[in-house]
Amino acid sequence: MISDLQQVFSANAKSMQKSVIRELLKLTRRPEVISFAGGLPDPAAFPVDQVAEITADVLRRDGALALQYSPTEGDPRLKEELIAHHEREDGIHLSPENILITVASQQGLDLVSKIFIDPGDPVIVGLPSYVGGLGAFRNYGADMIGVSLDDSGMRMDLLERELERLRERGKKPKFIYVVPDFQNPAGITMSEERRLRLISLARRYDVLILEDSPYKELRYEGEPQTSLFALDGAGQVIGLHTFSKILFPGMRLGWAIADEAIIQKLVIAKQSTDLCTPAFTQAIVAEFASRGLLNEVIENVKSIYREKRELMLAALDEHMPDLPGLSWTRPEGGLFLWVRLPEHMDADELFYEAIEQNVAFVIGAAFHCDGSGTNTMRLNFSFPTKDDIVEGVKRLARVIAEHDAKLKEGADVVISP
Ligand SMILES: Cc1ncc(COP(=O)(O)O)c(C=O)c1O
Repeated sequence: MISDLQQVFSANAKSMQKSVIRELLKLTRRPEVISFAGGLPDPAAFPVDQVAEITADVLRRDGALALQYSPTEGDPRLKEELIAHHEREDGIHLSPENILITVASQQGLDLVSKIFIDPGDPVIVGLPSYVGGLGAFRNYGADMIGVSLDDSGMRMDLLERELERLRERGKKPKFIYVVPDFQNPAGITMSEERRLRLISLARRYDVLILEDSPYKELRYEGEPQTSLFALDGAGQVIGLHTFSKILFPGMRLGWAIADEAIIQKLVIAKQSTDLCTPAFTQAIVAEFASRGLLNEVIENVKSIYREKRELMLAALDEHMPDLPGLSWTRPEGGLFLWVRLPEHMDADELFYEAIEQNVAFVIGAAFHCDGSGTNTMRLNFSFPTKDDIVEGVKRLARVIAEHDAKLKEGADVVISP
């Protein structure tokens, strides 16, 4: 090993930070811990037999192509399936030039950051926001500006204030990052009024919108909202999508949709990252979709998660202590709900007490670019079993009640490292 490795790392690498979530998740892996911490799909929903059959068919029929390098832009057959998917979902008319197939949406976040962010560039994010998005923007040196959400999504009055403040300083954010449907982490969906206002503000201040949309198809109740990309229709929005939550994450397959000029730049950025998304996985998923199986799987996933969401909400209603300021979101879809603890409670302290009681969650501060949100936590309901959802909520409720009692007594709270 060379003498001073740390000095050899680039400024970029030096500023990279470990993900708080990934570190905390290590603590939740003991088998006795019921974890609401991860964001994993339920493996019961994976169409293993169908994938096995299709994989064999793809290899037999198209093996030479499927095992070869492929165009950076993506498999034309998969693109055709995605064009049809967006047409059905949102009435969006895309051409193949508007699509880049990515190694799931995390790569989309990285590539978008790579082509837009110079160190110090402002980027607007929600308070809270998906932690992997924050990590990608941070790695390219973004100056992240947080805008709070309420039950209808990002607060447009606050967004306008930030945009105005930046304009007065002669600055313009590179983009506004939003997860408008069943947001990770808060489970909140942006109302149509907010969507329209967001687009109008983006136009007025001449800023791009980055719409990250892994969960839109997973709606369990209520009316679907039109995507920002469809509402805009004028190239102001970049959309990131993924098969991770609607199908399975193991193939690492997603796609970006945008104006052709942006896609072309993303293609160049991707070439130096990985040349192309694997032809093999693209061929399998294209075949899967062309057999009409995608919707079948999505319906199955929805029925599983709908039930689990109901169960978690019912368990929270039944077991959570009645404390002023303790509340949680009732997401209409997605994988997560968001708990707000009484103001004086610190989710970080609670986390270690919860681990001792064999239940885990993710602390909300990890999703806040400014370190706020210390009295919030994210709960996942897609991965734990139904029995674990009920038992885990009981344990969590007990931990919160005991923590509150301790605080009231003024007793010292034991914080394990
Ligand atoms: C909002 C959001 N964006 C992107 C991702 C990354 O997903 P993937 O890379 O598996 O598509 C996730 C994963 O949980 C997410 O919640």
